[in-house]
Amino acid sequence: MDRIRIVGGNQLNGRIQISGAKNAALPLMIASLLTSERLTLKNMPNLADVNLLARILRNHGADHLVDGKRLGSKTQIGETFHFTARDIVDTTAPYEMVSRMRASFWVLGPLLARMHQAKVSLPGGCAIGTRPVDLHLSGFKSLGANIDVVNGYVLASAPNGLQGGRVVFPKVSVGATHNVLMAAVLAKGETVIENAAREPEIGDVARCLVKMGAQIEGIDSSTLHIQGRDELEGAVHSVLPDRIETGTYAIAVAATGGDVELVGTNAELLTTALDELAKTGADITATENGIRIKRDAENLEPISIETRPFPGFPTDLQAQMMALMTIANGTSVVRETIFENRFMHVQELVRLGANITLHGDTATIKGVPQLHGAQVMATDLRASVSLVIGALAAKGETMISRVYHLDRGFEHLEQKLSGCGAQIERVSSD
Ligand code: UD1
Repeated sequence: MDRIRIVGGNQLNGRIQISGAKNAALPLMIASLLTSERLTLKNMPNLADVNLLARILRNHGADHLVDGKRLGSKTQIGETFHFTARDIVDTTAPYEMVSRMRASFWVLGPLLARMHQAKVSLPGGCAIGTRPVDLHLSGFKSLGANIDVVNGYVLASAPNGLQGGRVVFPKVSVGATHNVLMAAVLAKGETVIENAAREPEIGDVARCLVKMGAQIEGIDSSTLHIQGRDELEGAVHSVLPDRIETGTYAIAVAATGGDVELVGTNAELLTTALDELAKTGADITATENGIRIKRDAENLEPISIETRPFPGFPTDLQAQMMALMTIANGTSVVRETIFENRFMHVQELVRLGANITLHGDTATIKGVPQLHGAQVMATDLRASVSLVIGALAAKGETMISRVYHLDRGFEHLEQKLSGCGAQIERVSSD
């Protein structure tokens, strides 16, 4: 299994190209199941999750081409993918697939809407906490679907097609909003989704659906009005920039010091996170092509954050911000309100010399003057990149194992960081 070796202490200086957002790319790919015509997606990130989902979609009958090449050929940053699901040949998403990637559960909405039936495995456990799907299922029931859960599978059917309805989510859920939105665009009549998640990736998917002929009002707000259509068409859509990747590199620069322009991104995608980062003493400005982040002051100020649905501070940047706080000049507090168990990075950051105590959903971080390199283990996608940030700021060598987690969500991580002066390399072990 590959490992990543980092020798910390170098400042980051230069430019980093930000990739397309994983959390938009995945539901956009799934949206291709809604039409028999071709959906072309530009600015696609080359990630393990994207490639796995492409395989899952091919199982359902989608044809997948990368810039004229079949899947499997070498890809680079920002490629163009074409999906054509002319005929859906299989409405079952098996456990072996869904258990490997939670987002694949979202095929349920499009399959149910287009084929009037679907059998999709429950996603199962996840290291960051229990992640139920009750909101997804109650949303489909509001659109007239029959739902049974048998032997670990959701059996959904709507023999006469889905009917528009009123869906009121008791809790904000990104996944349930994607899933029910993608079902409602092919339901008969009007659907209203209240308390919808407002993450920019949902807006991006909704805009793509509109290009495909869907009628959606209220995009980017918490109430979506959808007029169902009999059919959708093909479209061409460019995936929006990855705000989590943007925030991650911005935090990395704050941790090491230096001056980096993040190119191909947009500060408006992560206002709260950048506001918090600015409070630590980092200097952040919008540029013509993206965002510039600088830090030269000696002291990092401590901050207190609480994760919230968008536009609040994203749970997907919590671990990275905590890594930064380990070297702040004082005590910081991080409260995780989205997932009950998203603190696996804590014990690994402690191995680098951090001083962190946990009480329930709250971590208290007492800044130390210096982290020191150590052997650490990646536990989930965002936790692993927090270890990269810690290691870049630490003195000496850090070896990170289980880096396949990183490959799920960060495209060309070593190249992007080493291009700015970091000493980082992948070590293959046979
Ligand atoms: C969540 C994050 C998203 C992040 C992703 C991966 C939020 C609101 N969502 O999205 O930003 O990119 O993880 O880290 O920040 N829930 C239920 N029943 C359901 C669905 C969800 O109770 O049917 C609960 C979850 O347990 C969680 C909360 O609702 O506490 C938000 O979950 P949801 O947004 O659906 O999770 P993801 O879509 O995975």
